Amino acid sequence: MAAPILALRGVNKSFGPIDVLHDITLEVRAGEVLCLLGDNGAGKSTLIKIMSGVHQPSSGTIEMDGTSVSLPTPRAASEKGIATVHQFGGTFPLMSIGRSFFVGVEPTRGFGPFKVYDRNRANDIAVKAVRDFGITRIDDGDRLVGGLSGGERQSLAIARAVHFGARVLILDEPTAALGVKQATHVLRIVNEAKRRGLAVIFITHQVMHAMAVGDHFAVLIRGAVAADFHKGEKTREEITDLMAGGASMASLEAEIESYMNSHGGHPPPPAQ
Ligand SMILES: Nc1ncnc2c1ncn2[C@@H]1O[C@H](COP(=O)(O)OP(=O)(O)O)[C@@H](O)[C@H]1O
Ligand SMILES: [Mg+2]
Repeated sequence: MAAPILALRGVNKSFGPIDVLHDITLEVRAGEVLCLLGDNGAGKSTLIKIMSGVHQPSSGTIEMDGTSVSLPTPRAASEKGIATVHQFGGTFPLMSIGRSFFVGVEPTRGFGPFKVYDRNRANDIAVKAVRDFGITRIDDGDRLVGGLSGGERQSLAIARAVHFGARVLILDEPTAALGVKQATHVLRIVNEAKRRGLAVIFITHQVMHAMAVGDHFAVLIRGAVAADFHKGEKTREEITDLMAGGASMASLEAEIESYMNSHGGHPPPPAQ
């Protein structure tokens, strides 16, 4: 089997005296979606900041294609094809779709003509890239990014990363703020990125969203990988329990059931 595109091996991270990540080993392969699950404060953002060159590991190694690499800056990560898309798409609300598509793209990466901004060409390329991802409602590159829905913005940011050659796509809670329909769009685009052979790291709280796209799952609890499993190996309930930190959801359900059995079928009153 080919080496994973990106792997962390025994990564630890401390901020001064605070240990945030413990001995993290994770791999993500081409054409695979790795879902990173975990409660608030579990260390998910710190982990992806290490993968995207924002933070350096305190110890441990990062490998790409089986070779140890360092990612000293976000730019170094991006030059190695690691793209990070944040919750709100990270795009620029007051810019047009075409303009935002080319922001920060170095002319040395083969886009010489855009040293002088060519609006029509930028618009055409941006609209085509987004439509190729199945977002057919976007047909005017002059529209402002701020006028797009949350799902469309995410889609634009993902299409942009893929267009500029990303091999690893890191999505930090892309569906958290979206309604069902919008989230479905984004999940479809995640599947499309995977079909095109990218390695996707998808961070979410929503087990159903993870199950809709994930091939491989890692649950982070207090900075450590508490479970690492593949599609089909665990049920939705088991994953939810793992995220809640062990068997706590199951025991809560048992507690409620026993309360109801002894109170004529009535559930406990809400907490004050
Ligand atoms: N720069 C930092 N300095 C000190 N502690 C930090 C720093 N960044 C994150 N932490 C701590 O690391 C833990 C994990 O945070 P984070 O990675 O943001 O978790 P998550 O994204 O899973 O919610 C938290 O307890 C947080 O306070
Ligand atoms: Mg976070």
